[in-house]
Amino acid sequence: MRVLLLILVIICASCKNDQHIPEVKKPQLGVIADSAMVVSAREEASRIGLNIMKEKGGNAFDAMIATEFALAVVFPYAGNLGGGGFMVFRTQYGEIGALDYREKAPMAASRDMYLDTDGNFISDKSKTGALAIGVPGTVAGMFAVHEKYGSLQMDEILAPVIALASEGYLLTADQAERFNFYNSIFEEVNGTESIYSNDWKENDRFINTAIAETFKRIALNGRSEFYEGETADLLVKYLSSKKGIITKKDLLNYEAVWREPVIFDYKELKIISMAPPSSGGICLAQILNAVEEFPIDEYGHNQTRSMQVIIEASRRAYADRSQFLGDPEFVDIPVDSLISPYYLKDRMNNFSFDKATPSTEISYGEPLGKESTETTHYSIVDAYGNAIAATTTLNAAFGSKMYSNELGFFFNNEMDDFSAKPGVPNMFGLIGGEANSIAPQKRMLSSMTPTIIEKNGEFWMSVGTPGGSTIITSVMQTILNVYEYDMTMQDAVNAPRFHHQWLPDQVLVEPQGFDRIILDSLSSKGYLINQEDAPVIGKVDAILKRTNGTLEGGADIRGDDTAVGY
Ligand code: DON
Repeated sequence: MRVLLLILVIICASCKNDQHIPEVKKPQLGVIADSAMVVSAREEASRIGLNIMKEKGGNAFDAMIATEFALAVVFPYAGNLGGGGFMVFRTQYGEIGALDYREKAPMAASRDMYLDTDGNFISDKSKTGALAIGVPGTVAGMFAVHEKYGSLQMDEILAPVIALASEGYLLTADQAERFNFYNSIFEEVNGTESIYSNDWKENDRFINTAIAETFKRIALNGRSEFYEGETADLLVKYLSSKKGIITKKDLLNYEAVWREPVIFDYKELKIISMAPPSSGGICLAQILNAVEEFPIDEYGHNQTRSMQVIIEASRRAYADRSQFLGDPEFVDIPVDSLISPYYLKDRMNNFSFDKATPSTEISYGEPLGKESTETTHYSIVDAYGNAIAATTTLNAAFGSKMYSNELGFFFNNEMDDFSAKPGVPNMFGLIGGEANSIAPQKRMLSSMTPTIIEKNGEFWMSVGTPGGSTIITSVMQTILNVYEYDMTMQDAVNAPRFHHQWLPDQVLVEPQGFDRIILDSLSSKGYLINQEDAPVIGKVDAILKRTNGTLEGGADIRGDDTAVGY
C-alpha cells in the first residue's frame, strides 16, 4: 500500500511538472467572411486589397500588388519600395508556386566588406547607412506577379495606393510613437529633415507626396521606371551621394525569380513554403517532421514536454541552417536530404526528456547525398479560391534608415542577413558560414516563411509573420495551435510564443501568457529561459478555411494588424 502511495505521489508530482492545465478560455473567433479576405499589418492596406477584389473584380494576385504597395505607404516601418520579399501561392486550380523578390548584393559588394583591417566585423556598417542596402526587389516582384497572374491593369491597381499617399492616413498610437522614436536616427543618417521629422501624435494625418509621385511614374512607365527610368536615376544619385555602391547596372540586372516551393507533409496536411534563398520552408519542414514523431497534442499546448520537443527540434534545424543554407544560385543545398523524416529522426536521437541538449553538443547534421527588427506579412484569399501568403521587408525597422526625400521611401539594410564573418552573429543572433558569405549579385539568406497549407487536397491555411529569426518558429507554432490544439485562427495567432535558434543557447519566451510552473520545470532541466529580450515574438497574419467553408482571419493582437473580408 505504501509503495502504491509512493508511486501515486511520484506520478502526480511529475504530472504537475509536465502538464499544468491552465483555465479554459472561451475560444475567440477572428473576422469571418464567406468569399474573400485580406489580413495585413494595417487596416488601410487590408481594405485597399479587399476592394480590388470586391469592387474591381480583381483576383488575389491583383489584391496582393495593391496590398504590398499600400503597405509601402501606410506601414513604412517594413512595407516598402526599397526592400524585397517572398510570396507563396496556390491558385483556384491547385497550381502552386513561389516568387523570390529578395534583394541582392550589389556588384561592387565583397566578402569582407564589413570587416576592418584586422578582420573584425564592424557591425554598424551592415545595418545602417548606404552600404547596408541590397538591390531592391519589390517593384520587380509585383510586376512579375502582374504579368503572370494579374487580371486588372496596373494603373487601376495603383490608383487607390496613390490616393492613400497623397490624401494621407491617420497615424495609430503605436505608429506615432515609432516615428518619434526613430526621428533623431533618421536625421543623423540622412543629414537632412524629412517628412518623418516631426513630433507625431495619434490621429495626425500623414501625407507622402513624394511616394505618390513615384507611384504615378510607375503607373505610367511600368517596371522599367524603377530599374531604368527617372526613379532609377534619382535612386542611384541619392545613394551615391551617401557613399552607396548600388549602380544603374545593379538595377538593370535585377530580376525576381519564380521558384519551386518547399513541399512536405505533416500528418494529413500538405505544407507549401518558401524555398532558398529563404531558410523558412526547409527549417519549418525540419522542425515539423521532427515534432511529428511525438504525440504533442497529448502533451498539451505550451506544456513542458511539448515545449521541449519543439525547442530541441528547432535547435537542430537552426544548426543546419547556419551550415547548409544560402542563395541556391551560389551553393548546392541538399534540400531533400535535409527534410527527409529519416534524417530528422536521426537528428533527434540524442534528445531526452530528462534534460536539455546543450547547443555546444549540437553541430550541423550529416544529411545524405548532395543535390544540386522589420518585416511584414499578409495573407489573401479571393472568391475564386486563389490564395497567397507574402512576407516583405526592409529587414530592420525602416531598414538602413536611409530615406530619399525625392522618392519618398526608405531603403533596406538586408546586407546584414549575410554572414559577414563566419561565427559572428548578425542582428538576429544568427550565425552563418560559407554558404551565406557575401558575394556580388548573391541573395542573402532569409528566414521569411510565407506558407500555404492544403488539407484533403483543398486550401486550408495561409500564414506568415515578421520577426527575423523567430519567423520560422512562430509560423510553426501557429500551424500546430490550429492542427494539434484545435484553436481558432485568431486564438492560434494570439497564443503566447517561444523560440530557440541553436545559438545563443536560450529559449526566448514572451513575457505574458506562460505558466511559471512550466517555465521552472524547463529551467530545472537545463533550459535557459529568457523573458526579457522578446516583448513580442512575431506578428502572425493568417487565414483559415473552416469546415463550414467560411474564412476566418487571424490578425495578430500584437500589432495594428487587421482582417477584412466579404
Ligand atoms: O529575411 C529575413 O529573415 C529578415 N530580413 C527578416 C527581418 C524581420 O523579420 C524583421 N522583423 N521583425
